Amino acid sequence: MPCFPASPRHRRLALALLFCIAIWQLNSYLSYGSSLYNIATCRHTAGRHQIPSRPLTKCPVSLESHKQTDSSYTGLAPALSPTKLLCRSTEHRAVGIPKLLHQSWKSNNLPAKFKRWSDTCRRQHPDWEWVLWTDEDNLQLVKDYFPWLEDTFLSLPGNIYRADLARNLYMYMFGGIYADLDTECLRPTFEALRSNNISLPGKSENEFTDESSMSHVAMFGRMGSDQTFDHHLPNAWMAASVQHPFFLLPLEFAKAEIQKSKRILHQLWYDYPSAEQLTGPIALAKNIRRYQVCGDTLDSIILLPDGLIYPFNWNEGQAIRSICSAEKDSFNASSCKETLGVGVKGSISITYWSHTHRGKGSDDENIDRISQEK
Ligand SMILES: *[C@@H]1O[C@H](CO)[C@@H](O)[C@H](O)[C@H]1NC(C)=O
Ligand SMILES: *[C@@H]1O[C@H](CO)[C@@H](O)[C@H](O)[C@H]1NC(C)=O
Repeated sequence: MPCFPASPRHRRLALALLFCIAIWQLNSYLSYGSSLYNIATCRHTAGRHQIPSRPLTKCPVSLESHKQTDSSYTGLAPALSPTKLLCRSTEHRAVGIPKLLHQSWKSNNLPAKFKRWSDTCRRQHPDWEWVLWTDEDNLQLVKDYFPWLEDTFLSLPGNIYRADLARNLYMYMFGGIYADLDTECLRPTFEALRSNNISLPGKSENEFTDESSMSHVAMFGRMGSDQTFDHHLPNAWMAASVQHPFFLLPLEFAKAEIQKSKRILHQLWYDYPSAEQLTGPIALAKNIRRYQVCGDTLDSIILLPDGLIYPFNWNEGQAIRSICSAEKDSFNASSCKETLGVGVKGSISITYWSHTHRGKGSDDENIDRISQEK
Protein backbone atom coordinates (compact mmCIF):
# COMPACT_ATOMS: atom_id res chain seq x y z
CA MET A 1 0.00 0.00 0.00
CA PRO A 2 2.37 2.66 -1.17
CA CYS A 3 -0.25 5.42 -1.14
CA PHE A 4 -1.48 5.04 2.42
CA PRO A 5 0.60 6.06 5.46
CA ALA A 6 2.11 2.98 7.09
CA SER A 7 2.31 4.01 10.72
CA PRO A 8 -0.92 4.03 12.79
CA ARG A 9 -0.22 7.58 13.90
CA HIS A 10 0.05 8.84 10.33
CA ARG A 11 -3.00 6.84 9.39
CA ARG A 12 -5.00 8.51 12.16
CA LEU A 13 -3.76 11.89 11.00
CA ALA A 14 -4.74 11.13 7.42
CA LEU A 15 -8.22 10.01 8.51
CA ALA A 16 -8.66 13.14 10.61
CA LEU A 17 -7.68 15.25 7.64
CA LEU A 18 -10.16 13.45 5.38
CA PHE A 19 -12.85 13.93 8.02
CA CYS A 20 -12.16 17.67 8.16
CA ILE A 21 -12.38 17.94 4.38
CA ALA A 22 -15.67 16.04 4.41
CA ILE A 23 -17.14 18.34 7.08
CA TRP A 24 -15.92 21.40 5.19
CA GLN A 25 -17.52 20.13 1.98
CA LEU A 26 -20.74 19.14 3.72
CA ASN A 27 -20.94 22.57 5.29
CA SER A 28 -21.05 24.17 1.87
CA TYR A 29 -24.21 22.22 1.11
CA LEU A 30 -25.91 23.23 4.32
CA SER A 31 -25.04 26.89 4.04
CA TYR A 32 -27.49 27.41 1.20
CA GLY A 33 -29.67 30.28 2.26
CA SER A 34 -31.47 33.33 1.14
CA SER A 35 -29.84 36.58 2.11
CA LEU A 36 -32.11 39.14 0.43
CA TYR A 37 -35.45 37.44 0.69
CA ASN A 38 -36.45 35.15 3.51
CA ILE A 39 -38.52 32.37 2.06
CA ALA A 40 -39.68 31.22 5.49
CA THR A 41 -41.29 34.56 6.37
CA CYS A 42 -41.94 35.67 2.77
CA ARG A 43 -40.30 39.01 3.48
CA HIS A 44 -37.39 41.01 2.20
CA THR A 45 -34.53 40.98 4.69
CA ALA A 46 -32.38 43.94 5.66
CA GLY A 47 -29.96 42.72 2.98
CA ARG A 48 -32.35 44.19 0.45
CA HIS A 49 -30.44 47.44 0.78
CA GLN A 50 -27.61 45.74 -1.05
CA ILE A 51 -29.55 46.77 -4.13
CA PRO A 52 -28.95 50.48 -4.70
CA SER A 53 -31.64 52.74 -6.09
CA ARG A 54 -29.08 54.62 -8.18
CA PRO A 55 -26.54 53.02 -10.50
CA LEU A 56 -23.09 52.64 -8.96
CA THR A 57 -21.37 54.05 -12.01
CA LYS A 58 -21.85 57.74 -12.65
CA CYS A 59 -24.59 58.76 -15.06
CA PRO A 60 -24.11 61.74 -17.35
CA VAL A 61 -26.79 64.29 -16.44
CA SER A 62 -27.99 64.26 -20.02
CA LEU A 63 -29.05 60.63 -19.61
CA GLU A 64 -31.13 61.14 -16.49
CA SER A 65 -34.15 62.09 -18.54
CA HIS A 66 -37.60 60.73 -17.98
CA LYS A 67 -39.84 59.02 -20.45
CA GLN A 68 -39.07 60.29 -23.90
CA THR A 69 -41.74 61.63 -26.17
CA ASP A 70 -41.37 60.14 -29.59
CA SER A 71 -41.92 62.76 -32.24
CA SER A 72 -41.59 60.50 -35.28
CA TYR A 73 -44.47 58.17 -34.53
CA THR A 74 -43.96 54.92 -36.38
CA GLY A 75 -46.55 52.72 -34.74
CA LEU A 76 -43.73 50.88 -32.98
CA ALA A 77 -42.78 51.16 -29.33
CA PRO A 78 -39.83 53.58 -29.36
CA ALA A 79 -36.42 52.15 -28.52
CA LEU A 80 -34.95 53.10 -25.17
CA SER A 81 -31.25 52.41 -24.73
CA PRO A 82 -30.24 50.28 -21.73
CA THR A 83 -27.74 53.01 -20.82
CA LYS A 84 -30.60 55.48 -20.45
CA LEU A 85 -32.76 53.04 -18.54
CA LEU A 86 -29.89 52.23 -16.17
CA CYS A 87 -29.64 55.93 -15.35
CA ARG A 88 -33.33 56.35 -14.67
CA SER A 89 -34.16 56.58 -11.01
CA THR A 90 -35.78 53.42 -9.71
CA GLU A 91 -37.44 55.17 -6.80
CA HIS A 92 -41.15 55.93 -6.66
CA ARG A 93 -42.11 53.43 -9.31
CA ALA A 94 -45.66 52.42 -9.96
CA VAL A 95 -46.53 49.02 -8.54
CA GLY A 96 -48.40 47.81 -11.62
CA ILE A 97 -46.60 46.34 -14.62
CA PRO A 98 -44.61 49.17 -16.26
CA LYS A 99 -44.90 49.65 -20.02
CA LEU A 100 -41.41 48.37 -20.77
CA LEU A 101 -40.65 45.59 -23.22
CA HIS A 102 -37.25 43.94 -22.68
CA GLN A 103 -35.49 41.75 -25.22
CA SER A 104 -31.89 40.62 -25.48
CA TRP A 105 -29.35 39.57 -28.07
CA LYS A 106 -25.56 39.42 -28.12
CA SER A 107 -25.38 42.68 -30.09
CA ASN A 108 -27.66 45.40 -31.45
CA ASN A 109 -27.75 43.69 -34.83
CA LEU A 110 -30.88 41.58 -34.92
CA PRO A 111 -31.12 38.64 -37.35
CA ALA A 112 -33.90 39.19 -39.94
CA LYS A 113 -36.60 37.02 -38.35
CA PHE A 114 -35.86 38.34 -34.86
CA LYS A 115 -36.27 41.89 -36.15
CA ARG A 116 -39.59 41.00 -37.75
CA TRP A 117 -40.97 39.26 -34.63
CA SER A 118 -39.63 41.95 -32.34
CA ASP A 119 -41.47 44.54 -34.46
CA THR A 120 -44.75 42.64 -33.94
CA CYS A 121 -44.27 43.09 -30.20
CA ARG A 122 -43.46 46.77 -30.55
CA ARG A 123 -46.47 47.23 -32.85
CA GLN A 124 -48.84 45.62 -30.32
CA HIS A 125 -47.49 47.99 -27.65
CA PRO A 126 -46.92 51.33 -29.41
CA ASP A 127 -47.17 53.37 -26.20
CA TRP A 128 -44.53 51.25 -24.44
CA GLU A 129 -40.77 51.59 -24.52
CA TRP A 130 -38.62 48.85 -26.05
CA VAL A 131 -35.25 47.98 -24.55
CA LEU A 132 -32.79 45.73 -26.38
CA TRP A 133 -30.10 44.47 -24.01
CA THR A 134 -26.76 43.24 -25.33
CA ASP A 135 -24.29 41.01 -23.48
CA GLU A 136 -22.32 44.13 -22.66
CA ASP A 137 -25.38 45.95 -21.25
CA ASN A 138 -26.17 42.93 -19.09
CA LEU A 139 -22.77 43.14 -17.44
CA GLN A 140 -23.25 46.86 -16.87
CA LEU A 141 -26.60 46.15 -15.20
CA VAL A 142 -24.90 43.71 -12.85
CA LYS A 143 -22.11 46.18 -12.05
CA ASP A 144 -24.54 49.04 -11.47
CA TYR A 145 -27.13 47.34 -9.31
CA PHE A 146 -26.03 43.83 -8.34
CA PRO A 147 -22.31 44.06 -7.44
CA TRP A 148 -22.66 41.06 -5.09
CA LEU A 149 -23.65 38.99 -8.11
CA GLU A 150 -20.78 40.01 -10.38
CA ASP A 151 -18.49 37.07 -9.49
CA THR A 152 -21.32 34.61 -10.06
CA PHE A 153 -22.27 36.29 -13.32
CA LEU A 154 -18.72 36.18 -14.66
CA SER A 155 -18.19 32.60 -13.45
CA LEU A 156 -21.07 31.31 -15.56
CA PRO A 157 -19.59 29.20 -18.35
CA GLY A 158 -21.39 30.75 -21.33
CA ASN A 159 -23.34 33.77 -22.51
CA ILE A 160 -26.57 31.81 -22.64
CA TYR A 161 -26.31 31.26 -18.86
CA ARG A 162 -25.78 35.01 -18.44
CA ALA A 163 -28.65 35.94 -20.77
CA ASP A 164 -30.95 33.57 -18.86
CA LEU A 165 -29.95 35.10 -15.54
CA ALA A 166 -30.10 38.70 -16.75
CA ARG A 167 -33.82 38.63 -17.53
CA ASN A 168 -34.47 38.15 -13.81
CA LEU A 169 -32.52 41.35 -13.25
CA TYR A 170 -34.60 43.31 -15.81
CA MET A 171 -37.74 42.15 -14.07
CA TYR A 172 -36.50 42.96 -10.58
CA MET A 173 -35.02 46.38 -11.33
CA PHE A 174 -37.39 47.74 -13.95
CA GLY A 175 -40.37 45.41 -14.31
CA GLY A 176 -42.37 45.21 -17.53
CA ILE A 177 -42.37 42.31 -19.94
CA TYR A 178 -39.47 40.20 -21.12
CA ALA A 179 -39.89 38.19 -24.33
CA ASP A 180 -37.42 36.04 -26.26
CA LEU A 181 -36.74 37.34 -29.78
CA ASP A 182 -38.41 34.33 -31.42
CA THR A 183 -41.69 35.47 -29.89
CA GLU A 184 -44.40 36.92 -32.09
CA CYS A 185 -46.85 39.15 -30.20
CA LEU A 186 -50.43 38.54 -31.25
CA ARG A 187 -52.39 40.96 -29.06
CA PRO A 188 -51.79 43.91 -26.72
CA THR A 189 -50.88 42.24 -23.43
CA PHE A 190 -52.97 44.24 -20.95
CA GLU A 191 -56.09 43.98 -23.09
CA ALA A 192 -55.59 40.23 -23.44
CA LEU A 193 -55.10 39.79 -19.70
CA ARG A 194 -58.25 41.78 -19.01
CA SER A 195 -60.32 39.77 -21.46
CA ASN A 196 -59.05 36.60 -19.79
CA ASN A 197 -60.23 37.99 -16.46
CA ILE A 198 -56.72 37.99 -15.03
CA SER A 199 -56.45 40.72 -12.46
CA LEU A 200 -53.98 41.88 -9.89
CA PRO A 201 -54.38 40.06 -6.57
CA GLY A 202 -56.18 41.98 -3.87
CA LYS A 203 -57.89 44.26 -6.34
CA SER A 204 -61.22 44.06 -8.03
CA GLU A 205 -60.30 46.34 -10.92
CA ASN A 206 -58.18 44.96 -13.73
CA GLU A 207 -55.85 47.92 -13.73
CA PHE A 208 -52.32 46.85 -14.43
CA THR A 209 -50.75 50.26 -14.21
CA ASP A 210 -52.57 51.58 -11.18
CA GLU A 211 -50.09 53.23 -8.83
CA SER A 212 -52.37 52.91 -5.83
CA SER A 213 -52.36 49.12 -5.92
CA MET A 214 -50.22 47.80 -3.11
CA SER A 215 -49.39 44.40 -4.46
CA HIS A 216 -46.52 43.21 -6.61
CA VAL A 217 -47.24 40.70 -9.31
CA ALA A 218 -45.13 38.39 -11.46
CA MET A 219 -46.53 36.34 -14.33
CA PHE A 220 -45.25 33.37 -16.26
CA GLY A 221 -46.87 31.20 -18.91
CA ARG A 222 -47.49 27.50 -18.80
CA MET A 223 -46.49 25.39 -21.79
CA GLY A 224 -48.66 22.33 -22.21
CA SER A 225 -50.76 20.69 -19.51
CA ASP A 226 -48.16 18.21 -18.25
CA GLN A 227 -46.94 19.83 -15.05
CA THR A 228 -44.32 17.13 -14.52
CA PHE A 229 -42.57 18.19 -17.73
CA ASP A 230 -39.23 19.84 -16.86
CA HIS A 231 -39.86 22.69 -19.29
CA HIS A 232 -43.46 23.30 -18.28
CA LEU A 233 -42.66 26.87 -17.17
CA PRO A 234 -40.36 28.40 -19.81
CA ASN A 235 -38.44 31.60 -19.13
CA ALA A 236 -39.02 32.93 -22.65
CA TRP A 237 -41.73 35.32 -21.45
CA MET A 238 -42.24 36.98 -18.10
CA ALA A 239 -44.10 40.01 -16.80
CA ALA A 240 -43.72 41.78 -13.49
CA SER A 241 -44.05 44.89 -11.44
CA VAL A 242 -40.86 46.54 -10.15
CA GLN A 243 -38.92 44.78 -7.34
CA HIS A 244 -41.03 41.68 -7.10
CA PRO A 245 -39.08 39.68 -4.51
CA PHE A 246 -39.46 36.42 -6.45
CA PHE A 247 -36.72 37.45 -8.88
CA LEU A 248 -34.14 37.44 -6.10
CA LEU A 249 -34.56 33.68 -5.76
CA PRO A 250 -33.10 32.67 -9.15
CA LEU A 251 -30.16 35.03 -8.46
CA GLU A 252 -29.39 33.52 -5.09
CA PHE A 253 -29.94 30.05 -6.48
CA ALA A 254 -27.37 30.62 -9.24
CA LYS A 255 -24.91 32.10 -6.76
CA ALA A 256 -25.25 29.10 -4.44
CA GLU A 257 -24.98 26.63 -7.33
CA ILE A 258 -21.83 28.32 -8.65
CA GLN A 259 -20.29 28.18 -5.18
CA LYS A 260 -21.17 24.48 -4.92
CA SER A 261 -19.80 23.73 -8.37
CA LYS A 262 -16.40 25.00 -7.29
CA ARG A 263 -16.08 22.36 -4.51
CA ILE A 264 -13.90 19.41 -5.39
CA LEU A 265 -16.21 16.72 -4.03
CA HIS A 266 -19.13 18.23 -5.90
CA GLN A 267 -17.18 18.19 -9.14
CA LEU A 268 -16.37 14.50 -8.65
CA TRP A 269 -19.97 13.60 -8.05
CA TYR A 270 -22.05 15.84 -10.34
CA ASP A 271 -21.90 17.04 -13.92
CA TYR A 272 -21.74 20.78 -14.40
CA PRO A 273 -25.36 22.02 -14.60
CA SER A 274 -26.73 22.97 -18.01
CA ALA A 275 -27.93 26.51 -18.69
CA GLU A 276 -31.51 25.23 -18.31
CA GLN A 277 -30.74 23.83 -14.87
CA LEU A 278 -28.61 26.67 -13.55
CA THR A 279 -30.22 29.86 -14.84
CA GLY A 280 -32.90 28.80 -17.35
CA PRO A 281 -36.39 27.26 -17.32
CA ILE A 282 -35.62 24.33 -15.00
CA ALA A 283 -34.16 26.72 -12.44
CA LEU A 284 -37.17 29.00 -12.90
CA ALA A 285 -39.66 26.19 -12.22
CA LYS A 286 -37.66 25.06 -9.19
CA ASN A 287 -37.66 28.56 -7.74
CA ILE A 288 -41.36 29.07 -8.45
CA ARG A 289 -42.02 25.89 -6.44
CA ARG A 290 -39.85 27.26 -3.61
CA TYR A 291 -41.69 30.57 -3.75
CA GLN A 292 -45.14 29.03 -3.77
CA VAL A 293 -45.09 28.82 0.03
CA CYS A 294 -45.58 32.58 -0.26
CA GLY A 295 -48.56 32.16 -2.55
CA ASP A 296 -51.02 34.00 -0.34
CA THR A 297 -48.87 37.03 0.29
CA LEU A 298 -49.37 40.31 -1.53
CA ASP A 299 -46.42 39.58 -3.80
CA SER A 300 -48.02 36.82 -5.76
CA ILE A 301 -47.13 34.84 -8.84
CA ILE A 302 -49.68 34.16 -11.56
CA LEU A 303 -49.14 31.18 -13.83
CA LEU A 304 -51.07 31.93 -17.00
CA PRO A 305 -53.06 29.04 -18.48
CA ASP A 306 -51.70 26.83 -21.25
CA GLY A 307 -52.17 28.36 -24.71
CA LEU A 308 -52.08 32.00 -23.66
CA ILE A 309 -48.31 32.58 -23.89
CA TYR A 310 -46.89 29.41 -25.46
CA PRO A 311 -49.56 27.92 -27.73
CA PHE A 312 -46.75 26.02 -29.48
CA ASN A 313 -45.52 23.34 -27.09
CA TRP A 314 -42.27 21.94 -28.51
CA ASN A 315 -42.86 18.77 -26.55
CA GLU A 316 -45.88 17.97 -28.74
CA GLY A 317 -45.88 15.71 -31.79
CA GLN A 318 -43.66 15.90 -34.85
CA ALA A 319 -46.46 17.21 -37.07
CA ILE A 320 -46.85 20.44 -35.08
CA ARG A 321 -43.10 20.78 -34.66
CA SER A 322 -42.47 20.57 -38.37
CA ILE A 323 -44.52 23.71 -39.07
CA CYS A 324 -44.11 25.62 -35.77
CA SER A 325 -40.44 25.17 -34.95
CA ALA A 326 -38.18 27.86 -36.40
CA GLU A 327 -35.47 25.15 -36.46
CA LYS A 328 -37.25 23.25 -39.25
CA ASP A 329 -36.98 23.88 -42.97
CA SER A 330 -40.74 23.25 -43.16
CA PHE A 331 -41.44 26.07 -40.64
CA ASN A 332 -44.47 28.13 -41.69
CA ALA A 333 -45.66 30.66 -39.11
CA SER A 334 -49.07 31.29 -40.66
CA SER A 335 -50.02 27.68 -41.02
CA CYS A 336 -48.67 27.06 -37.50
CA LYS A 337 -50.91 29.76 -36.00
CA GLU A 338 -53.85 28.52 -38.03
CA THR A 339 -53.34 24.90 -36.98
CA LEU A 340 -52.97 25.84 -33.31
CA GLY A 341 -55.99 28.14 -33.42
CA VAL A 342 -54.25 30.99 -31.63
CA GLY A 343 -57.18 33.30 -32.40
CA VAL A 344 -59.77 31.08 -30.73
CA LYS A 345 -57.44 30.50 -27.79
CA GLY A 346 -56.95 34.26 -27.41
CA SER A 347 -53.19 33.73 -27.28
CA ILE A 348 -51.15 36.78 -26.32
CA SER A 349 -48.00 35.56 -28.06
CA ILE A 350 -46.35 32.55 -29.64
CA THR A 351 -42.73 31.46 -29.33
CA TYR A 352 -41.25 29.54 -32.25
CA TRP A 353 -38.33 28.08 -30.23
CA SER A 354 -35.48 28.89 -32.59
CA HIS A 355 -32.81 27.46 -30.21
CA THR A 356 -29.92 29.72 -31.09
CA HIS A 357 -27.86 28.17 -28.29
CA ARG A 358 -26.57 24.69 -27.79
CA GLY A 359 -24.70 23.55 -24.71
CA LYS A 360 -22.53 26.41 -23.52
CA GLY A 361 -22.22 28.10 -26.91
CA SER A 362 -24.31 29.24 -29.83
CA ASP A 363 -25.91 27.18 -32.57
CA ASP A 364 -24.60 28.70 -35.78
CA GLU A 365 -26.85 26.66 -38.03
CA ASN A 366 -29.97 27.92 -36.27
CA ILE A 367 -28.66 31.48 -36.16
CA ASP A 368 -28.18 31.21 -39.89
CA ARG A 369 -31.76 30.03 -40.28
CA ILE A 370 -33.30 32.95 -38.38
CA SER A 371 -31.04 35.35 -40.26
CA GLN A 372 -32.87 34.49 -43.46
CA GLU A 373 -35.98 36.51 -44.35
CA LYS A 374 -37.97 33.46 -45.48
C1 LIG B 1 -64.64 36.82 -17.94
O1 LIG B 1 -65.70 37.19 -17.11
C2 LIG B 1 -66.89 37.53 -17.80
C3 LIG B 1 -67.91 38.06 -16.80
O2 LIG B 1 -67.86 37.33 -15.61
C4 LIG B 1 -67.38 36.28 -18.55
O3 LIG B 1 -68.54 36.58 -19.28
C5 LIG B 1 -66.31 35.80 -19.50
O4 LIG B 1 -66.66 34.60 -20.13
C6 LIG B 1 -64.98 35.58 -18.77
N1 LIG B 1 -63.95 35.30 -19.72
C7 LIG B 1 -63.09 34.29 -19.60
C8 LIG B 1 -62.07 34.13 -20.68
O5 LIG B 1 -63.10 33.53 -18.65
C1 LIG C 1 -47.55 28.72 -45.43
O1 LIG C 1 -48.83 28.17 -45.26
C2 LIG C 1 -49.88 28.89 -45.89
C3 LIG C 1 -51.17 28.22 -45.49
O2 LIG C 1 -51.44 28.34 -44.15
C4 LIG C 1 -49.68 28.94 -47.38
O3 LIG C 1 -50.69 29.72 -47.99
C5 LIG C 1 -48.32 29.53 -47.68
O4 LIG C 1 -48.06 29.45 -49.06
C6 LIG C 1 -47.21 28.79 -46.91
N1 LIG C 1 -45.96 29.46 -47.13
C7 LIG C 1 -44.88 28.84 -47.55
C8 LIG C 1 -43.65 29.67 -47.73
O5 LIG C 1 -44.86 27.65 -47.79
